[in-house]
Order: sequence, then structure tokens, then C-alpha cells
Amino acid sequence: MQAVAQAQPNIALIKYWGKRDVDRNLPAVDSLSVTLDTLWTWMSLEFDARLEQDTLDVNGSEAPSMLARVSHCLDLVVGSGRAFARVESSSNFPIGAGLASSASAFAALVVAADKAAGSGLETNALARLAGAASGSAARSLFGGFVELTATDENIEVREIADSASWPLEVIIAVTAEGPKALGSTEAMIRSARTSPFYSSWLEQQSADLEIARQAVRQRDFAKLAAVAEHNCLKMHSVMWGSRPPIVYWNQATLACMETVRALQADRLSVFFTIDAGPQLKAVCLPEDAEFVRAALEQTAGVIRVMRSGLGPGARLLEQA
Ligand code: PMV
Repeated sequence: MQAVAQAQPNIALIKYWGKRDVDRNLPAVDSLSVTLDTLWTWMSLEFDARLEQDTLDVNGSEAPSMLARVSHCLDLVVGSGRAFARVESSSNFPIGAGLASSASAFAALVVAADKAAGSGLETNALARLAGAASGSAARSLFGGFVELTATDENIEVREIADSASWPLEVIIAVTAEGPKALGSTEAMIRSARTSPFYSSWLEQQSADLEIARQAVRQRDFAKLAAVAEHNCLKMHSVMWGSRPPIVYWNQATLACMETVRALQADRLSVFFTIDAGPQLKAVCLPEDAEFVRAALEQTAGVIRVMRSGLGPGARLLEQA
């Protein structure tokens, strides 16, 4: 009745933005991501018949505001007639700040719940359950380069290349550590309702995804860089064009973009991507990673920099 799991966040290179079904949390577009290795969320879970309600502890403190989402996810994995659970999670990076902490948290949660309840679900079934809680979490069930495709019925998630086959590095420039002002679900709904660019975003996604898929297959960094930056900036254009506008960037985010542009002018193999928060993630070849890290660290407004390679999907750590 007890299990511990670990998962890493993933960073989308071709982004998920928009929902085709808000209630079932089904993405409007397909996406492609890389799973990280050095950032992690660790999740311990125990079903206990003596408990009178679920309890949640995040990084050593009770987290009542996140409890409803966690309880709902457990109901989906185990069934609503389940025993209550004691859930403890910790992460080694800021949570709720555009660093995909919900992705690693829900990926680890479904793996731990499945084991603790003895359900024995296969990985794609777990990915669907994690995805119902947080769309991007479905991708953290898998490692390396991960593609998520969505239909009106469901999602399919698969690893298209493993982490060792193209060992890219990701440098994360943290430019603000507080939680984001607007959650991604609310922001996506607003984008779909009000942004004049939303329909073009939907139309162009499969073409972007095909280019990225080819780039991964061919290990073509320049091709991946061009399509990933374009896709990221289109997603943010959809947000900026919403009413009221959704702007997650700050001055340091823009300064980091300039740093990446300068590194590209110096012929380093690096590109940026930014999610629903002010942090910039620079993806690069391993030989350039140290230069990229140092340049972002020196960029005005950067609080700290984290470096990661690509890693495995969510997995069980131990079973009591
Ligand atoms: O999984 P959510 O609901 O937090 O959505 C996150 C969406 C982006 O991070 C902005 C893009 C992506 O594909 O991860």
C-alpha cells in the first residue's frame, strides 16, 4: 500500500497550448518534448484505511491548495472507493513557476499510486491519467524525446529517441522564483476564446511537429533550433494577442533571448524556448553547454542557472 516514485520535468520543443476538451483535459495540438535528468520530483504515497482524508505535504509543508487536484488524480488511478492517502512530495527546483513542476509531480504521482494500489497499468495508461491532471505531465512518463498525439478520444505518448541517442543539454535561466500570476488552464481557455492568432496556431502545428520529428531523426540541430524557436514564439504571440493579454516574460527573459542570439552569432549550437512562465530554457549541444551556462549566468536579471542533460521517464524507486 506504499510506494515511492521519481519523475523529471519535460520541456516542450513543439508546444502544447490549447485544449480540445477542457473537462477531459485533452490537448488541442500534438507536442514534442525532452525529458530532463537533474531536476526531479520525488513522490511518496501511502494508502491508509485509518486516514479520514487525503493529506499532502510539498517540500516539508502542508499544501491544502493543491490537495483537490491530487485527490482527483488518485481517484482516476485507483477508483473513488479507495482508502485515503498520505502523499509527500519534494522537488529540487522552484514549483509553479513555469518549470513544469506539475509535469514531474503528476507523472511521479500516477506511478506511485499505481504501484501502491497494485493496479499494474501500462505506461500509456498512466500517461493518460497524468495528462488528465496536467497535459504536459503525460510526456514525463517517458524519457528522451517524447511525442504526444491527441485525438477527440484520447492521447498517445511515445518515446521517439532515447536520451543517449542524442544527448542534448538544457540550461535553465531562472529569472523569477514566485508562482506565476495566471495558471496555464485559464490562460489556454482565454487564448482560445480571444486570440485572433489561435486558429493559425492550431493549423500550423502538425507541420511544425513533422519538421521537429525529422530533425530528431536526422540529429539535425539547426533544423530543430529553427522550428522550436518559431513554435515557441508563435505560442507566445497567441498569448500576447489574447484579451486581456497574457505576458509571462519579464525583462530578464528578453535579456536571456538576446544572450542566446549573441551565442548563435558566435556559431554556438543553441536555441531557446519559454513556457508559461518567465524562465528561459536554452537547448544546446554538449560541447557548447558550459559557454551557454556561463553566458546566461552573467545575463542581467538572472537569479540562477540550472543545467540538465536528458533523462529517463517516471519510475518507481522502492516499495515497502
Ligand atoms: O501541462 P500544463 O497544463 O501546465 O500546460 C503547460 C503548457 C506549456 O508548458 C506552456 C507547453 C508545453 O507543451 O509544455
